[in-house]
This record gives sequence, structure tokens and C-alpha cells, in this order.
Amino acid sequence: MKKEELKKIIIIVVCVAVLVTIIMLIKSCDSTRSDLKKIGYSKDEINTIMEKLSEEDITKILNMDYNKNLVSIINEQYYIPYNLDRYLAYANKNENIKDVISVVNVGADNEWYTNTKETNIDEGIKMLVNKFHYLKEDYLPDDIVPISNWYAYEGHSTKKEVYDKYVSMWNAANKEGLRLLVNSSYRTFEDQQNEYDMSNDDYASRPGFSEHQTGLALDIVTDDIIGNEFENTDEFKWLQENAHLYGFILRYPKDKEYITGYNYESWHYRYVGKELATKVKESGLTYDEYYAYYCEYKKAC
Ligand code: DAL
Ligand code: ZN
Repeated sequence: MKKEELKKIIIIVVCVAVLVTIIMLIKSCDSTRSDLKKIGYSKDEINTIMEKLSEEDITKILNMDYNKNLVSIINEQYYIPYNLDRYLAYANKNENIKDVISVVNVGADNEWYTNTKETNIDEGIKMLVNKFHYLKEDYLPDDIVPISNWYAYEGHSTKKEVYDKYVSMWNAANKEGLRLLVNSSYRTFEDQQNEYDMSNDDYASRPGFSEHQTGLALDIVTDDIIGNEFENTDEFKWLQENAHLYGFILRYPKDKEYITGYNYESWHYRYVGKELATKVKESGLTYDEYYAYYCEYKKAC
């Protein structure tokens, strides 16, 4: 056989193979579409399912009855594919799909303090500590320095980086006639045990589960106000607008108890660095939600 002829035959065989593959793909896609239709999904729903779900998840859906929540779930901004089963399960208990996504993403579809894992301390100032992520009893942050009484009640300390940024923040607020005051800061595991013993699960973390053990959290008040009265002060209003510029975020916001696991704390600020604090503030998410989506899932925080 001539070289030219062989070349022709090879080209024809390759073209036929490609054509057959395309036809098979179209056929399998068509049969998936018609199977989804049989289950009860509309054309629009099928388009979304085909566009957004993996083959594996589509197979799962094909083995289930029609689910009215499915498409709303996968269309949510913070949908994380590996949480699909848990979203579907939790949506049976909660009709608000946005909340379903938030609750499941942070792990709060589990009882608080169950399914816990050790915090990844290698993440430094970004590390997540909450009711599902703990620090070991012997975790001791490095670089802990005392906070001068000028800026805090007696006997407080924090990480050096946090201190430096807090002092800058304090000075900026002070220039506007405001006076911030730290009334709680770095706590050891044992300190947290004492805090917890004097309080309850709505306000205090169990030992090992407190951000205060990281040396990255400060409770900030004024000299005459403690507790959530703080939110009525000019100092609080100033922090709302400016804390992120110094790397701090309000960690337990109002009406987010079902996500953070704690009552609103207008005084508890967590240092995560300016860049991340700005992103968290702009997102409007709690740090638990932000971390789950951007840090853990997107690996981009
Ligand atoms: N009050 C906060 C939640 C703590 O105990 O760390
Ligand atoms: Zn605190």
C-alpha cells in the first residue's frame, strides 16, 4: 500500500472514532436529560443540573426522587460541591436555603462540639478556632507580649503583631477623641477553663475552643462600658468602620448565633491581618463562613 493511501485510511479511522465518541456523548447526555425529566425536573432545572453538577453527583440525583430544593441549593453563591448531601438533608429542617448553605458550610448541621477537628495552626493569623476546631491543651502561641496599661486593664497580653496593630488602631481612634480599652486578651487553656466555669456555652468557649488561646483575639470596650452596651458607644461605631484597616474583624456579630455558636459579642475582635479582614468585611460573612468557602474550599484566602 502506498504511503498516501495509508495516510488517508488513518485519517478516516480517526474521524470516524471522533464522530462515534461525539454521538455517544450526545446520546448519553440526552438519556441523562430524559431521565431527569422523568424524575420531574423542568427544562431549566435540568440545564442547571447538567451545567453545575459533576457526573458523580448527577448519578446520585438520578437515584433519588425529585427534590424541590436541589436547584436552589446549587445556585447559591457559597455552594460547595462536597457538601451536597448535607445541604439536601439539612434543607428538610430549614426552608431558608441561604441559611442551609451557611449552616452546613461551617459544620453547624452537627451538634456544637461534635465532629471536631484540630485547628491547622500552620495557618498562623488565619487559623480558624470555633466550636468545631480546637487547639491542643498545650498550644502556646509564640511572641506574646504584655499590653501597656495605657491601652488595657491591668495584666493583659497578646501577640506582638496584634499589639502593634492594636496600638496603631488605638492612636487613630484616639485622634478622634475616642479611647479604646482591652478587657480580655490572651488566655491559656487553663484561663479559658476558668472563664467557661464562670459562664455558659452561649458566651464562653470550652477550653481548647477559644480564639483567646491563639493570642489573636482582643475584647475591646471603653472604661465605663462593658458588655453589649458597648455597641451604643462612638468607639464601637468607629471600630465598625475602621477595625478592618488594622486587621481586626468583629467575630460574633448580631443575629449570626446559629453560625458562630455564640451570642452577639460587640466587644470580641479577632486579628486576621488587614488584607483578609478587609475581604471578610466586604463579604458580609462571619469568619466561620468565609473560612469554609474561601480558605478551605477555594484555597484562596
Ligand atoms: N467569649 C468567647 C466566645 C470566648 O470565650 O472565647
Ligand atoms: Zn473575647
